Amino acid sequence: MKILKNISAFMILFSLMMLVSCEYEFIEIAAPTPPDPNDTTIDTVSFSAEIEPIFAASSCTNCHSNSGATAGLNLSAGSAYNSITSNGLVVAGDPDASKIYYYPNPVTGTHNTKYGSNDDADLIYLWIYQGALDN
Ligand code: HEC
Repeated sequence: MKILKNISAFMILFSLMMLVSCEYEFIEIAAPTPPDPNDTTIDTVSFSAEIEPIFAASSCTNCHSNSGATAGLNLSAGSAYNSITSNGLVVAGDPDASKIYYYPNPVTGTHNTKYGSNDDADLIYLWIYQGALDN
């Protein structure tokens, strides 16, 4: 009897130890944090001054430019807006449905080349959220 008691005490203790020793490790991927769209202090993003330079800085124009519009997409300054809209790559007001935002996204995108930084993606997000203006 005493042995049985000891065994069950040990089993209980052992189960408790198993319970508390379980540690879950989540691998977290930092998603880009878009600026708060309701923040009225945020200025309207300028496509020509802020968005077009991202395409050059992120090497997009190596493949999508005046000199070679791979996949029919031309992201050179002056041509980018018309090309993006005519290819249906932007849904004004809905960045998550806009391929120009999600496809080359540095964290979640699946394109071979991605935007250089999360800040770039955030700015594109905001530009689309604000109505994807040609400004
Ligand atoms: C090395 C060449 C190359 C570079 C650099 C490149 N792309 Fe592409 N891109 C392609 C090719 C090839 C396709 C078509 C096949 C595919 O979807 O991957 C494409 C397709 C796309 C599409 C989808 C077009 C559609 O009609 O569905 C988008 C959007 C796009 N690229 C944006 C970008 C952006 C933004 C960058 C810069 C961050 C970039 N690409 C850099 C080669 C490139």
